Amino acid sequence: MDRQKLENLLADMSVSEKIEQLVQLHGGFFGEVDMITGPAAEFKMDADRPYRTGTVLGEHGAEHLRNLQDRMMAKQPHRIPAIFMADVIHGYKTAFPVPIAIGSSFDPDLAEEIASAAAEEASAAGVHVTFSPMVDLVRDPRWGRCMESTGEDPYLNSAMAAAFVRGFQGDDISKKGKIAACVKHFAAYGAPVAGRDYNVTEISEHTLFEDYLKPYRAAVEAGVKLVMTAFNTIDRKPCTTNRHLLRDVLREDMGFKGVVISDYNAVGETVIQGSSADRADAAKKALIAGCDIDMMSDCYLNGLEGAIKSGEVDEKLLDEAVMRVLELKNELGLFENPYKDGSAEREKEVIFSEKIQALGRRAAEETTVLLKNDGILPLKNGQKIGVVGDLAQSKEIVGSWSIFADASRTVTLREALEKLCPETEFVFSGDAPTETELEKIASCDAVLLCLGEDQSRTGESMSVADISLSDGHRELFSRVSAVNKNTVALIYGGRPLAIPEVAKAARAVVEVWLPGTVGSYAVADIIFGKVNPSGRLSMSIPYCSGQLPISYSLFNTGRPKPETDSFVRYVSNYMDVPNRPLYSFGCGLSYCEIAYSEPILSKNVIRRGEKITASVSVENMGDSAVTETVQLYIRDIKGSVVRPLRELKGFKRVGLEPHEKKNVEFEISEDMLKFYDAEMNFTAEAGGFTLWIGHDSLTKNGADFRLED
Ligand code: NOJ
Repeated sequence: MDRQKLENLLADMSVSEKIEQLVQLHGGFFGEVDMITGPAAEFKMDADRPYRTGTVLGEHGAEHLRNLQDRMMAKQPHRIPAIFMADVIHGYKTAFPVPIAIGSSFDPDLAEEIASAAAEEASAAGVHVTFSPMVDLVRDPRWGRCMESTGEDPYLNSAMAAAFVRGFQGDDISKKGKIAACVKHFAAYGAPVAGRDYNVTEISEHTLFEDYLKPYRAAVEAGVKLVMTAFNTIDRKPCTTNRHLLRDVLREDMGFKGVVISDYNAVGETVIQGSSADRADAAKKALIAGCDIDMMSDCYLNGLEGAIKSGEVDEKLLDEAVMRVLELKNELGLFENPYKDGSAEREKEVIFSEKIQALGRRAAEETTVLLKNDGILPLKNGQKIGVVGDLAQSKEIVGSWSIFADASRTVTLREALEKLCPETEFVFSGDAPTETELEKIASCDAVLLCLGEDQSRTGESMSVADISLSDGHRELFSRVSAVNKNTVALIYGGRPLAIPEVAKAARAVVEVWLPGTVGSYAVADIIFGKVNPSGRLSMSIPYCSGQLPISYSLFNTGRPKPETDSFVRYVSNYMDVPNRPLYSFGCGLSYCEIAYSEPILSKNVIRRGEKITASVSVENMGDSAVTETVQLYIRDIKGSVVRPLRELKGFKRVGLEPHEKKNVEFEISEDMLKFYDAEMNFTAEAGGFTLWIGHDSLTKNGADFRLED
């Protein structure tokens, strides 16, 4: 449909029809039973009104959505098609590793492929928009939604955000297999005070712009079509009614042109938060602020018309919001084909295709992180191996956004081990081995001990005050390691867990995260050395909850800690634990040692607008092929505001054959040195810098340079 036709359509719509386009209800409103006593009754509307709304939340399935689309269009005064939006976060029917794991691949191409595969499956099932990527920066694993983020670092999260958007949307969302992406939750939802979900954020303007906003900006630059507002407040203002955030920052500064949607009842919740007088006031504030669609509240439905008719809210604002929704429908091609790719045949063809299963397995190969190995791994086939813990036999290892995933397809670790290692004798037991089972475990050559959390302990609202292993798992670890010293700890979960005892006593530690439908095959392949691990932590693993929030990227205080883990009086440190995490961001081992040369700079002065190169050679000292993630960190020594001690500024995944040596080069530009100065100008200040190129965020492989005017 051309622009003129869209404008004619808008001009012909009544105020109430326009408002209905800005409302999103979930599927419960469209079932006959629910209509009488269910949510529709609470929302005070006639039975037909849900069918006149513009978008639907959480429904899926080709036949079902074709049918729902027909029913909705039949009741629309202008036969406007609905958009079907759903949470396709790390896969649709096939679940890929959770996003915190995808971050650990340090492989944006992989993230793009995953998003593209998820879009293929979901679009076949009639879904038009996904509420992904979630790019909230996470530095506090008490928050259960860490699982949904790609981690703690703005640079990595930005690369991943853009990759997800490219994967879901491609270059044209009307194309077959593509869906529109919705970046969320704008903004800083990942920093709730004390790690408690939905809590307020207390964040400085610098930290907000420097760290938290960057990934959303990257998604906008990649062309994301929608942005979801966050539940939280920033500076005591709810994000959903925050005009400055949504109009000045998102639209003006970042240049976002698409649709803004609230989170679930976030407009209505501003009343409970105490910043809107009532639901009509909330509706007015949200629309003025720039929130186009009201997800799952009756604020717009019942509260907006009066304000428009009385002139309290300019109808122009309503028209702009509706036009953005119509444009999105148009871009999706829904006026021509309201079902888009949804068809039962396509569902059969695409969902669980071999290609997608192979991608799921490769994804988990890249996302699993080997944290410690004293040489026990890889295990040898043909040995006798104990496999302990309920998680080894659990299908709850997919992630809390596996709402659409087909659990019957989930491969457990036990199934994977038995299938892939027929010559190995496995001795299985659960979380509470009997004395007889313990005797058998004692006689094994090694024990794979599965610890941590299954998917039910992670995700929305699943905050914890203490990120330690459960008492049960701590006890299990001591019982098993008391009888068998050759213990390999496999840590499951959607958040970093504090595991200092395990890190000390286990012979190897593997962060498995929640590996998805077929990820267990990859875990088995890594344990038995068929795959060389390459994952790196996307989020630091602390010693204990008391260190939170934590990140590798810290500032110097006026009393920095000297290079020691022991306590030092009158400097900034703890008496009981080191300042640094137990395992820092970017860390992760393979089965090969990698040697780095010192960085060589093409010049050690950059003039404004110029670029220099920094290069190192990396050599695989091992006997198997490996992928090394070479990481670049930079420190700005002095600035008009204090600057982090190091920040990730680049990474490259480099494939190395046994004993192969390669040169790896990074371009260093003035742009990479920019930050928000004391007056909030985004600029690079002349002066001294240090860069490091190495294996992880702890690397000391550095060189100095200067930026000069
Ligand atoms: C609430 C969650 O915060 C958000 O991430 C999700 O997309 C919506 N519910 C819709 O399910």
